Amino acid sequence: MRLSWEDLHSRIESCENCGLCRNIHRKVPGQGDIHAKLMFIGEGPGADEDLQGLAFVGKAGQLLTKMIAAMGLTREQVYICNVVKCRPPNNRAPEPDEMACCMPFLREQFLMVHPRVIVLLGATAAKAVLGDQIRITRDRGKWVEKKGFYFMPTYHPAALLRDESKKRDVWQDLKMVMAKLKETEEG
Ligand code: URA
Repeated sequence: MRLSWEDLHSRIESCENCGLCRNIHRKVPGQGDIHAKLMFIGEGPGADEDLQGLAFVGKAGQLLTKMIAAMGLTREQVYICNVVKCRPPNNRAPEPDEMACCMPFLREQFLMVHPRVIVLLGATAAKAVLGDQIRITRDRGKWVEKKGFYFMPTYHPAALLRDESKKRDVWQDLKMVMAKLKETEEG
């Protein structure tokens, strides 16, 4: 039997399995439609997310909102979360042991939402979910299918803020996501 959302959130809230929780304001479990067909997974909360307790609400999050809107969707129609639920200090990438501690929560969220399509935002999320062999520049834009779930690695929105030329690639990837969603609805 799966956990209830309330149980899951309270487990995340009380988790002290790694050191990240010592330096945070808020846990950031993730939010959105718990029955969404489309799930976005990022790396971990930044400063704004840490203050608000919500995933992707800072600059990168605002860009993600625009990307979702360009797909004809709203944030409320998708599920958005991160690999780690606590902000790593100074926005560093989460360490492998920190990600391993948080993975059961992500796995549970994945099983409970049961999306058809999952967009992995950036190398950290793509490696955490698909394995260390993933190279984001090589593997973005290519479907990875596992047990009927479709994973699309693409660049993180923060990377697009640093390098606008990546936007074209991400839009290509998101168009593939839109087509796959349509296909899975029809199928
Ligand atoms: N970057 C992420 O990976 N996740 C957030 O929630 C915000 C910024």
